[in-house]
Amino acid sequence: MSTLVIVGAQWGDEAKGKLVDVLGSEADMVIRYSGGNNAGHTVIAEGKEYKFQLIPAGILHPNVASILGGGMVICPSGLLEELKRTKAITADLGKLYISSAAHVVFPYHRLLDSLEEEARGQNKIGTTSRGIGPAYEDKVARLGIRMSEFVDPNRFPQRLREVLDVKNKYLQLFNKEPIEYDSLLKEYTGYADQLRPLVVDVEPMIQEAVKQGKRVLFEGAQGTFLDLDCGTYPYVTSSHPIAAGACLGTGVGPRAIDNVLGVCKAYTTRVGSGPFPTELNDKTGEWIREQGREYGTVTGRGRRCGWLDLILLRHSCRLNSLSGLVVTRLDVLSGLPELQVATGYKTPSGPVQHVPNDLVEFAHVEPAYLTMEGWEGDLRGCRKMEDLPASARAYLKFIEEFTETPVAIVSIGPDRKETIVVRPELIWG
Ligand code: IMP
Repeated sequence: MSTLVIVGAQWGDEAKGKLVDVLGSEADMVIRYSGGNNAGHTVIAEGKEYKFQLIPAGILHPNVASILGGGMVICPSGLLEELKRTKAITADLGKLYISSAAHVVFPYHRLLDSLEEEARGQNKIGTTSRGIGPAYEDKVARLGIRMSEFVDPNRFPQRLREVLDVKNKYLQLFNKEPIEYDSLLKEYTGYADQLRPLVVDVEPMIQEAVKQGKRVLFEGAQGTFLDLDCGTYPYVTSSHPIAAGACLGTGVGPRAIDNVLGVCKAYTTRVGSGPFPTELNDKTGEWIREQGREYGTVTGRGRRCGWLDLILLRHSCRLNSLSGLVVTRLDVLSGLPELQVATGYKTPSGPVQHVPNDLVEFAHVEPAYLTMEGWEGDLRGCRKMEDLPASARAYLKFIEEFTETPVAIVSIGPDRKETIVVRPELIWG
């Protein structure tokens, strides 16, 4: 057993970055498999803070190969800026590769992202405005420009002209000025020259590593309920954050995956629009936001906060066939006398025990709560389960029982060492 997928089990921002950093140190290869710079991972290592948006957190380990997978959409200037920022903090980085199959994000994608949002009016999704949706739209429309074409000076000028002609027609529909070809070509050729040495067919490398039994970590971005197919559509991102996305975005089949860990917070958060049954629009919600510093890494937006929703989490365990859960931010809840967890939904047609596919139905469910005893004190010094207060352990046990999924790891602070490994066998086998 040597391959592991790390997936966000809720709506993203579950603190996957820390886990990828911790487990990445034990891996030979870390591959990000979906999304783009809509994601934001904060990693604190040896007292230094790193903010990653595209680069896998594995980069902080010099002996680990980090790969941006073919399922990603990559903003070249964002990537170069992130590399520069990271190198300014530490020179001791692992090798980075970019899949030649990944798609490139252009300025017209960002512009269209904002224009499409504006056009949605009240129904806006609340995107990160990074052009992610429009870049995936082009991929599906078979208009996208892949990394292999982007770094080929003989093909890129022609491809850009073809695509830009179409995109400028779109912009005209929105009464916007066309984007000028020559300056865009010049700017992007400059980026391509810098990224060319990193672009390779990564799929055979990954397949070979899996075959040789090397430790390969597939790093998810965003979260299960932002998945284009399995999330709360249309309030989703345009890629596949779920575990199945690890196969689509890296070139391995489902039988190559040994373990899947789902990272969930001890409560729930969501950024952007869309239904959120356990959302707390009150003082407790604000308290959680402040205690947990729940503000977006990418956009700085305050995250919507609420109680742990076990109906959602159980669905996530099944959608991702999770081997285990990683419960993060348990420390944040310290000080609340009582906690609520949703164990069912009430609907006008009676109680339900699953996540309805229909958005309107989901938007109108009312959670049925179970009240649990809270705990006090700073948990950040706890290093094993027995160090945790009894009611925190009872909380974790209830999560396990309800979701029928064992807790593998508990995180009680942002630092690498603030981690309790409960079941090591669920990590690498
Ligand atoms: P997009 O991915 O920018 O198109 O945004 C679509 C939805 O996904 C919006 O609700 C965003 O707030 C949400 N989203 C995208 N990336 C993240 C993330 O990394 N964490 C949490 N929410 C995200």
